[in-house]
Amino acid sequence: SKAYNIAVLPGDGIGQEVVPEAVRVLKAIADIYGHSFQFEEMLVGGAAIDAYGTPLRDEDLEKCKQADAVLFGANGGPKWDNPKAEVRPEQALLWLRKGLELFANLRPVKVTDSMLDASPLKPELVKGVDLVVVRELTGGIYFGQPSKRWEENGQRHAVDTLYYSEEEIRRVVRTACDIAMSRRKKVTSVDKANVLSSSRLWREVATEVAQEYPEIEMEHILVDAMTMHIMRAPKSFDVIVTENMFGDILTDEAAMLTGSIGLLPSASLGARVKENGIRPGLYEPIHGSAPDIAGKGIANPTATILSAALMLRYSFGLENEASSIEQAVSKALSEGKATADIVRDGKALSTREMTDVIINYIYENSKSTT
Ligand code: NAD
Ligand code: IPM
Ligand code: MN
Repeated sequence: SKAYNIAVLPGDGIGQEVVPEAVRVLKAIADIYGHSFQFEEMLVGGAAIDAYGTPLRDEDLEKCKQADAVLFGANGGPKWDNPKAEVRPEQALLWLRKGLELFANLRPVKVTDSMLDASPLKPELVKGVDLVVVRELTGGIYFGQPSKRWEENGQRHAVDTLYYSEEEIRRVVRTACDIAMSRRKKVTSVDKANVLSSSRLWREVATEVAQEYPEIEMEHILVDAMTMHIMRAPKSFDVIVTENMFGDILTDEAAMLTGSIGLLPSASLGARVKENGIRPGLYEPIHGSAPDIAGKGIANPTATILSAALMLRYSFGLENEASSIEQAVSKALSEGKATADIVRDGKALSTREMTDVIINYIYENSKSTT
């Protein structure tokens, strides 16, 4: 079997608590399946600002580019939140995504029966939800120029720009269609075409891409209405593709279908595939550094552990290993094992205890299948 190099970037707040747990899970997988994972840890975000004065050093970005995959926790926190600060922790993440050219951010939202109790929504509404949001990640309003603030006539002004080229839209919509082809073949493209010209271009290009996929049914929904449809009829969606910021917002909303943002993983992929077949990517929970619970050892590690599973699947092609993690998580949840964010009755487990349960199930499962 191969050796895989994994850059490990815990970042700030609960990132420092959940990432080491996902690494423990990966070590268990290495042990069971005989793989060799080499972990190289780096400081990013606020931690790197404190240590080096920058949220991501060039040399560390370079190491991440060389790595087979990057496992990321979270960036940010009140300590670095001064709105006038020149350097911000969150820049690390934006530079990584851009620097690694990871234009497609996959955010799967799957509600298994074991999670029905955790969702604030009615069980019959969320039972069976299985959708993937494909969020454009290296363009749109996060990266368009100009983006700046200035003073003029005694007034403060600021601007951000929502820009897309047709190629940026085409490649991410193709990714969404490719994913839909192995699923229910339905793509929902979300935009604001009634107001924004970038969205009218988005809709035009998305429609052209859909013509390359005759089997795919594509629908277009305006983003404001979409926030409603996600709550009203989440089961009607298969693959959702959308602009960077729309995808950011819709996925925090979609997390509530599962009951906690601490359950939602993500994978960010680009076009690059190495000669050895490895497809480099960035794997991170969709949640942030959760300053309100950081340092208490109670954060839910599941989103990060499931992100590690996505790494095994998408970057390394290790499907059995990936699903053994997913099955263990699912079993833990169905037995009512839960951290404070999702616990119903019974005792809330700590971050570490929750991971221990998952690791035990991974070992148990490997014994019963070999
Ligand atoms: P957040 O996702 O950090 O927290 C939102 C709420 O969800 C909080 O109540 C938090 O306690 C809870 N939560 C989040 N993850 C959890 C987990 N694993 N287990 C249990 N509960 C969890 O969002 P926020 O509060 O808006 O942002 C806090 C900081 O994180 C900000 O500085 C923001 O910029 C940053 N942020 C970073 C990322 C990232 O690095 N990918 C993502 C989002 C926000
Ligand atoms: C996310 C986060 C990031 C984003 C921030 C921290 C830059 O909210 O990964 O969802 O907006 O993309
Ligand atoms: Mn977000």
